Amino acid sequence: MADFIKHPVVPLPERDPEPVFSTEELVFTDEEKRQIEAYVARYPTADGAVMRTLWLAQEKFGFLPPEVIRLVADTLGLPYAQVYGVATFYTQYYKKKMGKYVLDVCTCFSCQVCGGYDVLHYLEEKLGIKKGETTEDGLFTIQEVECLGACGSAPVLQVTNGPYVFNLTEEKIDRLLEDLRAGKMPAFTSVTLPQDEDEMGGNRRTDAPQTATYVTPPVSKTLE
Ligand code: FES
Repeated sequence: MADFIKHPVVPLPERDPEPVFSTEELVFTDEEKRQIEAYVARYPTADGAVMRTLWLAQEKFGFLPPEVIRLVADTLGLPYAQVYGVATFYTQYYKKKMGKYVLDVCTCFSCQVCGGYDVLHYLEEKLGIKKGETTEDGLFTIQEVECLGACGSAPVLQVTNGPYVFNLTEEKIDRLLEDLRAGKMPAFTSVTLPQDEDEMGGNRRTDAPQTATYVTPPVSKTLE
């Protein structure tokens, strides 16, 4: 059997774990319900609101065990399997309780050739845990993740669905861990891409206005 089938990058959650939250806890407040209704109103059908509602649930409960996924499904009037499929597709949705800082290490193509696995293994060694595990003090969880969309600055990791740390080296990782232990999140860093320098004289992610350069032409035109 192929290695990636025996050891998937992100293991699936247990099928029937003991519920973490009681029935009394598994409710959305009136305000949260209004927020969810507002999400639903933006889309033709409730499916469109799955991701935002899962996000809201994760912020409320901290993570998404099956009973929370079910609450989201029931609230949106969708099948459990559909919402489960979305929640388990994205590593950004936490299916189990995570550490205070989740270190998402990219080992996809660009990061892999630039040392993504060295980063992963260095972190595992430094923290004394394997990917998917959390340190005993509850401070760090390591995840191996797919492309974070910052391939030009590989190898990359993301901290708790927040700031990225680019062009990782062992020194940078050491500094990051030290900072996080001291409660200091890395600052948002913007990376200028070569084509931005040429075409826009700046950085399209922050201060440059959007330009037509990256707009996909309408399908009908593409087919002409
Ligand atoms: Fe790592 Fe794309 S391959 S960010």
